[in-house]
Amino acid sequence: MKKAKTSPLTRGVTESEGYQLKFEPEEVSFDMNVTLRKPFGPCIMNAQLPVPIYKEMVKVTDEILADKKRVNWGPNLAGQIKEEPHISNELLLERDLFGFFNVLTQRYIQESNALHGSSGLHEIERRNPDETIVLNTNITSMWIVSQYENEYNPVHHHTNSTVSGVMYLNVPKFEKRDIYGKKDLDGNIEFVYHAAAEDHFSMEQGAFSVAPKEGDIFLFPSYLLHTVYPFIGEGERRSVSFNVLHTYQPERTIEEQEESSKKKKTRGKK
Ligand SMILES: [Fe+2]
Repeated sequence: MKKAKTSPLTRGVTESEGYQLKFEPEEVSFDMNVTLRKPFGPCIMNAQLPVPIYKEMVKVTDEILADKKRVNWGPNLAGQIKEEPHISNELLLERDLFGFFNVLTQRYIQESNALHGSSGLHEIERRNPDETIVLNTNITSMWIVSQYENEYNPVHHHTNSTVSGVMYLNVPKFEKRDIYGKKDLDGNIEFVYHAAAEDHFSMEQGAFSVAPKEGDIFLFPSYLLHTVYPFIGEGERRSVSFNVLHTYQPERTIEEQEESSKKKKTRGKK
């Protein structure tokens, strides 16, 4: 058996054409088309909020946090955090923010499905050949997480929704723990998919930890477990989370569908 030499693979490369494997002796080599597929596991969208949206969200959340009549959403949430007020859809509509989050979520769903080659939508279209099927999203809840020193969010997932999002409006300076040999995880959000060995042995990551920056937004499937670590420091770490339910629906109204089937029946009688 000839021994394969280690290929100088570049980080992030998933597909290559004309991939060359050299074997010993040196004169033996093969040109191959090799594709690395990743058919399992969820994908997470990461984007930066457009500046006008970021500024408006800061304004809206400043106003809510200063409002004595703010609605505390905390009892519905996992966070060990005092300030988690609700943001209503009425307010999002009033401030021209509702459409933005719906459209971004739709984009995430479409791109996720395209990435794993989902045939689900084609199947719905096949069963409804006379219909145009549209992706419908609806924000079911949105809330502010105003997190201060020592507060944290235990591992949890979101219910009554299919897609969830989190955006960061303020990230303060954290005091360093400076424990020798330890990773710096304070204030990070960590997504937990499953247990996996060290990534260089299991060749995948079971969890993904991020130090968010102001203006970052992440979208992920609602079932995906995640946690937020506490921090030391005086500032406020302010984020806004939301839940979305998505469905695939025929574009036509029920009345239009009934009208169309009546016409079909009449044509059949002739
Ligand atoms: Fe959460």
